[in-house]
Formats: sequence, C-alpha cells, structure tokens
Amino acid sequence: RGITRPRMAVRSSALSAVPILTSLQKNCATPLPVLRHVADAMAADMRAGLAVDGGSDLKMILSYVNSLPTGNEKGLFYALDLGGTNFRVLRVQLGGKDQRVVDTEFEQVSIPQKLMFGTSEELFDFISSGLASFAKKESGKFQLAHGRKREIGFTFSFPVKQTSIDSGILIKWTKGFAVSGTAGKDVVACLNEAMERQGLDMQVSALVNDTVGTLAGARYWDDDVMVAVILGTGTNACYVERMDAIPKLRSHMSASGRTIINTEWGAFSNGLPLTEFDRDMDVASINPGEQIFEKTISGMYLGEIVRRVLLKMAEAGALFGESVPEKFSTPFILRTPHLCAMQLDNSDDLEAVGSILSDVVGVRSDLCARKIVLEVCDTIVKRGGRLAGAGIVGILQKMEQDSKGIIFGKRTVVAMDGGLYENYPQYRRYLQDAVTELLGSEISKSVIIEHSKDGSGIGAALLAAANSNYAHEF
Ligand code: GLC
Repeated sequence: RGITRPRMAVRSSALSAVPILTSLQKNCATPLPVLRHVADAMAADMRAGLAVDGGSDLKMILSYVNSLPTGNEKGLFYALDLGGTNFRVLRVQLGGKDQRVVDTEFEQVSIPQKLMFGTSEELFDFISSGLASFAKKESGKFQLAHGRKREIGFTFSFPVKQTSIDSGILIKWTKGFAVSGTAGKDVVACLNEAMERQGLDMQVSALVNDTVGTLAGARYWDDDVMVAVILGTGTNACYVERMDAIPKLRSHMSASGRTIINTEWGAFSNGLPLTEFDRDMDVASINPGEQIFEKTISGMYLGEIVRRVLLKMAEAGALFGESVPEKFSTPFILRTPHLCAMQLDNSDDLEAVGSILSDVVGVRSDLCARKIVLEVCDTIVKRGGRLAGAGIVGILQKMEQDSKGIIFGKRTVVAMDGGLYENYPQYRRYLQDAVTELLGSEISKSVIIEHSKDGSGIGAALLAAANSNYAHEF
C-alpha cells in the first residue's frame, strides 16, 4: 500500500499540486494499527456510554425495543421515515408467518432545503401533509376493524432520548438540519399536533431510529442479524445488547433479556486520522466539534472534503491553471455521487472526470490534473470506508468480549443500508477489506456484511405492529 504518484509524460502545471497530495495521503493513511486503535476505542467508548449517561462521545441510547420481529406480525401499518435528504411514507400489509409481507406501497419526496432551516411546525406540517395525501390513496383492499386507528412506525433518524417505545425527545439536529424549536421536545407530540392540524386520525405506535428500523427489518428475515449500520447522508449503528450489560439501566428498569442500543456512533472522535481540511470543514459547519466520525466517513461530507482539498491544490498548486472560478468556493457543491461517478471513469482520457469538474466546479483540466483529482477522491473515500469497517469491528469486538462465542463462533450478520453504502462500490470494497484485515480471514468468513435495502421502513412498521395498541385483537 505505497503512496501512488500519478505518472505523467508531459510536464503539466498540475504537477505542482503533488506535494499537497502526498501529504494528504500520509495524513489520511489507515494502516492496520490505526484501524485497530479505532476499533478498540469504539469498543471502549461503547462501554463508557453504557456505564453512565454522558460517559463518552457515544450516547448509547436505549431504544425501548426489547423484542424483535418474529414473523407473526399481522395487519395494516404505515411507516414514516425522516432522516436525510428524503422523506418517505410506506404502507404495508403484514400477513403473519406464512404470508409475511403481503403488500407494500411507498412514496418519497425530497425535503425542500428551506424546511431544514425553518420552524418545527413547518417541518412537521410538511410531513403530515405528505402522510395525509398518501393515506388518501389507500385502496379499499385494506380493511381495518371498525373504530381502529391507522398505526404508524415513525423512523426519525436523529439523536433522540427515548422515553418509551412511542415517545422521545430530540437531543439535537445533525446532518445539516437546523430546525428551530424541536430540540428538547417530544417528536411524537410534534407529529401528533401536526396530524391534528391536518385532521388526520392516525397514531404513532413506535418511534425508532433508522438503524433500529433496519435491524428489525433485517431480523424479520434472518435471525443472525445482530448489528445494523447506516451509511448515507449521515452514519450510525445499533446492535443487540444484553440488559445486564447496561449498568446505567439498573436504576430504573429490570435487567433481564436483551434490547437494541442505538450507539449514535457519528459522534465518535477518538484517534481518527484527520487533516486540516477536516478541521476547517468542521469549524465552518453548523455543528462544530460534533459528529466528527460522521464528518469523516458519511455521504454528506466526503464530497465537501474533496472540494476543500482540490481548492487548495487549485489556489496553492495551480491544479487547474492560473485562475480559480468563484463556483469552486461554494460549500457542498461537489457531492459524494460526483466522486463516485468520477471513480467509475476508466477511459484513457478520463473524460467523465473532466466533464464533472467543468460542470460542477467550472474548471478545465488536463489529464494530469484529472489523475490527481482521482487520487484525492480515492484517498478520502478509502479513509472513510476503512474507518467505517473499523467501527463495525469495534462493535463486534465489544459484543464478543462480553459473551465469548456469541459473535465470532457462529454466523453473524451486519445489516447495512444508506445511499453511500448502496451506491458507492469502491467505498464498500474498502469497508469490507478493513473488516477482513482486522478480523483475519478465518473469523471474517462468519461475519456477513449484507445490504438490507430499505429495511428500515418495513422494520418500523413491524415494530409498530409489535407495539400495536390493538395487539390483543390479533
Ligand atoms: C445521524 C443521526 C442518527 C442517524 C444517522 C444515519 O448520525 O444522528 O440518528 O441514525 O445520522 O441516518
């Protein structure tokens, strides 16, 4: 794994950017000892967060999900999913053990940028009106018993201090959301008020994080799922924990059985290989000092880190010739899907790289510059994927240390979802490589890292079913 320098026949002005690339590669390197350190620190932070509230960067939030789907769930349920760039509504008819998912329908809308900076009422009104128009389209084939309300599994993918399975207080916004008036409030109450304003007679039966929804959704099909990870706009992981391994629980709950813990690992920060570009991006963000792991490995930020590196190369190293277009200085203009599209270009002249650079940041590039751009993308994406892999191993390690053989002695599935994981093959490869390097080839054979597509919606509906107010009627 040496540092690769692009080889060029003709001298290009872009070559003066090479020293910046070399130092970037050095600072972002994730050799095995760095990965080990991150995995160990993740496991230690998990323990500290389970010991007391506020014990570490990781909040280790109780999900109040104490039983996982069995397959017996039956009936008509809705799911709402708010958490990234899109808002989704889903309707699912569950048919029990034999029929499983009889029917699903869903709609998705992107969240207007202005709502991310608006008021709580505006955001929840938007959600409930989306839900209302979707609910109106419900066909007659779905029947609910007389007097029964439609029930919702609400996936709300931000750090929430759960107070029960169907209530929880928003701790803070992440992923670029800065909606006023929600932090400190019960988000289910916010949704209920908005539904009342719409005259919509539905009720939330389960409030879940997207990781928890994904774990429940994947577990419905496969009993060996123990961990779920989201790699999308943001990142997070949850896992199955023994109640008696949660010291902070002792004070207010009986300690038997198992539960799901939402780690909120996006806030992890210990021992990460960071650069001046990460620090500058963090300082300029709306949540400086927070969500450092998320800012290093998740989809919202990879493109922005690369933009910052390229801008420095353009200004200090004349990567794209003498002048730098104004557009280049626009934060978040270069997005992670652009990086992915550039990395997929395997033509000799890297034409796709050239046209993305010209369309998105407004620069002309020669072949030498394009090769350097690809090296920068690869450096940042590789660091992200490998650190995500180390995080997963950290969780598995913690589970294994507590109960020998529960993880490494048998087939264990890690359910993955999120646009970054789904759509970025190179990132996925780096993640898997890091897991294999850390676990060794023998153990890693029994750890299956598997895409669980859109499991979180069905998962939330399943948890709504399991916690249905009408459960006794089944
Ligand atoms: C952010 C949120 C977290 C969510 C993750 C993935 O980190 O804080 O709750 O699970 O993004 O969507």
